[in-house]
Amino acid sequence: MGELINPEVHAFDTLWDASRALAEEVAKTARIAVEEQGRLTMALSGGKTPEPLYSLLAREYADKMEWNSIHLFWGDERCVPQNHPDSNFRMAYKSWISKVPIPPQSVHRIQTEEVTPEKAAESYERLLIEFFNASEEIPASTFDVMLLGLGADGHTASLFPGSPALSEKKRWVVSASAPSSVFPKKRITMTLPLINISRKVIFLALGGEKRSVIRTIFEEPEKAVKIYPAAMVRAREKLLWYVDKNV
Ligand code: 6PG
Repeated sequence: MGELINPEVHAFDTLWDASRALAEEVAKTARIAVEEQGRLTMALSGGKTPEPLYSLLAREYADKMEWNSIHLFWGDERCVPQNHPDSNFRMAYKSWISKVPIPPQSVHRIQTEEVTPEKAAESYERLLIEFFNASEEIPASTFDVMLLGLGADGHTASLFPGSPALSEKKRWVVSASAPSSVFPKKRITMTLPLINISRKVIFLALGGEKRSVIRTIFEEPEKAVKIYPAAMVRAREKLLWYVDKNV
């Protein structure tokens, strides 16, 4: 699962404050990555929490980032059309991507229109293997930034507690199902073997309903790692948590 790097925790009064700080972190990481390797690869999270961050990146960083050198991916997607209100792509596109001059071919969405979720997962995995020139073995690292959210049940991406996807050791992308109380049910998700070789993993996890999970992850890691997918996440270089103050 990779070595546990001590998380760097950043605590904020509001999601807006956290989004401002995180936008700066993303822009700084992008600057360094483009200088050092000529590109930034970033996997985006879905849900509602990252929307203010994406809007900020559109509004205040449109002329501060090298969009021709930035590649965007998704850590997970719901099996809905790209223009569906529940689409993670649609949220990021409307709030950010449609407002910055990033080349369309650098926006690598998960094509959920494939015949089945399994086919969609296989297609996205092929896209990633080709993009990172990865052979059968998993390469040293992949994404420069992996942005993740956190559910109140401790899920991240579409890796839910007890999911068979959590025991995946080789595949990079799989189809998955959300619990019966969570919609949309059918999902495509990156797996832990792929997430955990990202250089920098950033959890944007504000919201009162997430605090007890976060406390358990930080205060009882041995217990958390058995039950919460978010606690199973590792990073090659840096693991950052953006959380509420007094978590
Ligand atoms: C998804 C996300 C998921 C999300 C959490 C938190 O597709 O739902 O990738 O992992 O980050 O469910 O969602 P909120 O930001 O809406 O609380």
